[in-house]
Amino acid sequence: MDIFSQIGPLRAFLDQKKSVVKSVGFVPTMGALHEGHLALIKESRKENTITVCSIYVNPTQFNNPDDLAKYPRTIERDIDMLKLVGCDVLFHPSNDEIYPENSIIAFDFGSLEQIMEGKFRPGHFSGVAKVVSKLFNIVQPHIAYFGQKDFQQFKIVENLVQELKFNVQLRCVPIQREKDGLAMSSRNRRLSDEQRQNALVFYQSLQLAKKLLEQGLSLSLIKEEVKKYCESKPGVSLEYLELAEATNFVQTESVKTNAILLIAGHVGEVRLIDNLLLNE
Ligand code: PAJ
Repeated sequence: MDIFSQIGPLRAFLDQKKSVVKSVGFVPTMGALHEGHLALIKESRKENTITVCSIYVNPTQFNNPDDLAKYPRTIERDIDMLKLVGCDVLFHPSNDEIYPENSIIAFDFGSLEQIMEGKFRPGHFSGVAKVVSKLFNIVQPHIAYFGQKDFQQFKIVENLVQELKFNVQLRCVPIQREKDGLAMSSRNRRLSDEQRQNALVFYQSLQLAKKLLEQGLSLSLIKEEVKKYCESKPGVSLEYLELAEATNFVQTESVKTNAILLIAGHVGEVRLIDNLLLNE
């Protein structure tokens, strides 16, 4: 695997490769890799001649400084994992490489970022869009891979690519889960054994909400039930449970075609998210 920390040498390397290879796949990450990230790499390897992964903990998408400071960083282990799954190139830049100047550009995604993750994490999606734009311009991939785990983020990136005419195709890869159903996340490493058990309530709440929707219960009643269920576990608090149309990400009260249930909450001080596509 070729590893780069600077934009210039990476660009020169990729320019030379692009003259001979058919397609470049790209998987942006913040590291602390797990099977969820590796699923994106594997998907990219199926479709592309070379796969580039980036590992960069992007400060502009963290609205909570403590969350940024405590974000797990495991670069040596990440490199070993990437080598094992056959990733071709790693881009691992410093903050000075990505943000050498005071960043003055901000993105505003309107109603798409006034709900759920956008509402609870002000400025988060502007930071995501900034770094994804920079990374797309640096790597110029043919296809980029994102996880359904961060479904709203995928919708933001879809909008970004469409409106700014980035010449890249997007893929959304299904959520990878632990055996008991917990969505894999870099933040799971911060949970104690007891918290790890309690964290399962979010996935169980999605299943419960799905069942209650099928039984015809109203969304407002379901939200009450789910809140009670989550908060019956010590240290767990619910931020939101919402139902949206998967295509345009507009919130809805009842299941239409392509609906998605989304949940977010805390276990102790660790914030977790999960979602479930209905009609699958
Ligand atoms: P990060 O949280 O490291 O996630 C990188 C990619 O892996 C994202 O597209 C995310 O949706 C996907 N992913 C995470 N857990 C997953 C799981 N359990 N199953 C499937 N895919 C999963 O998302 C980011 O980083 C950043 O916001 C980034 C896009 C890199 C911009 O900084």
